Amino acid sequence: MLTNKPKGTNDFLPDEVGRWQALEDLLREVSRLYGYREIRTPIFEHTELFQRGVGETTDIVEKEMYTFTSKGEKSYSLRPEGTAPTVRAYVENKLYAQPQPTTKLYYIGPMFRHDRPQAGRYRQFHQYGIEALGSDDPALDAEVIAMAMDIYRRLGLKDLTVELNSVGCPNCRLQHRQKLQEFLAPKKEQLCKTCQGRYERNPMRILDCKDSNCQKLTEGAPTIDQMLCPECQSHFTAVQKHLHALEVPYNLNSKLVRGLDYYVKTAFEIVATGIGAQGSVGGGGRYDGLIEQIGGPAMPGIGFALGLERILLAMKEQGLDLVADNPVEVFIATMGEDAQLMGSKLSQQLRQEGFAVERDYGNRSFKAQLKAADRYQVRYTLIIGEDELKNNMVQVKDMATGKQEPVALAEVQVYLNRNIRGREINE
Ligand code: HAM
Repeated sequence: MLTNKPKGTNDFLPDEVGRWQALEDLLREVSRLYGYREIRTPIFEHTELFQRGVGETTDIVEKEMYTFTSKGEKSYSLRPEGTAPTVRAYVENKLYAQPQPTTKLYYIGPMFRHDRPQAGRYRQFHQYGIEALGSDDPALDAEVIAMAMDIYRRLGLKDLTVELNSVGCPNCRLQHRQKLQEFLAPKKEQLCKTCQGRYERNPMRILDCKDSNCQKLTEGAPTIDQMLCPECQSHFTAVQKHLHALEVPYNLNSKLVRGLDYYVKTAFEIVATGIGAQGSVGGGGRYDGLIEQIGGPAMPGIGFALGLERILLAMKEQGLDLVADNPVEVFIATMGEDAQLMGSKLSQQLRQEGFAVERDYGNRSFKAQLKAADRYQVRYTLIIGEDELKNNMVQVKDMATGKQEPVALAEVQVYLNRNIRGREINE
């Protein structure tokens, strides 16, 4: 029990973390290129934020949140997603009052949903998300989708599809809701239990139920695209025009609804094949009413979040990898107590110079130290024995060629700079 992690969580060991760091570096770089700046919000928020923001009748709020009260205070929940917290911080810190018309924010971090764990679905998982607040320009919708695809392209991922829909605004949805309920009324009893509950509360979600029987029952059901109001229709047409201009292919999917209630107009999901049932590697959309609902001014917003575990899973599936640089560059092997002192001093000096230095502890045999150097896969091992100590020098062993040459202690920095960094420094 003590040595078991909670179900649906993961330990990321150092080799794996190297991969995560490389992915995060790429995400930060792409954020910069598109003008997004990082925001960090708390891991837990008032439960009410998600009830109001994500929606009372969503699966996330109804059954997947980790909710607790602390010392008789109000109810808190671990964040199941990043949009509502980002919008909350935007409103609370009055970021809307800043001079730039569109505030572009991004986040990378853990999210928590109590769902049944399986490949690609975890209870603690990680998202990279962006939120662009303050503009309803369809050009932005297209750019947001193009940005997500740009990330996957840079990672080398292939065979991803963008599923695109417009879920309309509250006006078009009212009409759709009525028509859909009329269509489903005679089949209501045959729907799955969850969808029977959705019939009153949120019938649109029945359209993207994964249950095959529900999918059959909704064949031919009225979809929102047939009922978009003129404004939503022209917005959707413009988004598609921009996507064509950006050469981003997409599938129109009138049954795509998404599991969060805040979406209006553009909704999209990016799906990978070959990673099992949890194929959605990212999703997002427009949420024009959310900022106002959370207590801010009436301002539009759009964003997406990508699941980092699923991205790495899809990459593995496609034979792609991200590798962090080998962290250790130099190993120092010493023989005898005085040499060890000199080695300690040299390690510190080289670290100040920016070299990653490792050494062996515990006065082990010379052979054992060289073995350790091999394991670290360093470029050079610096050897200090009695002779070297006497003559103020070290033996530099090139681990790739096995060649060894003496270098004066005072010249070691220059030598390593030249040979590792390709830089000449004159001291
Ligand atoms: P979401 O579709 O709920 O949207 O999640 C986005 C992505 O997070 C999914 O496509 C998936 O890759 C990943 N994901 C979700 N749940 C899990 C899980 N249990 N285990 C592993 N990965 C998971 C949102 O969260 C919205 N906040 C996105 C957004 C931002 N919309 C506008 N702005």
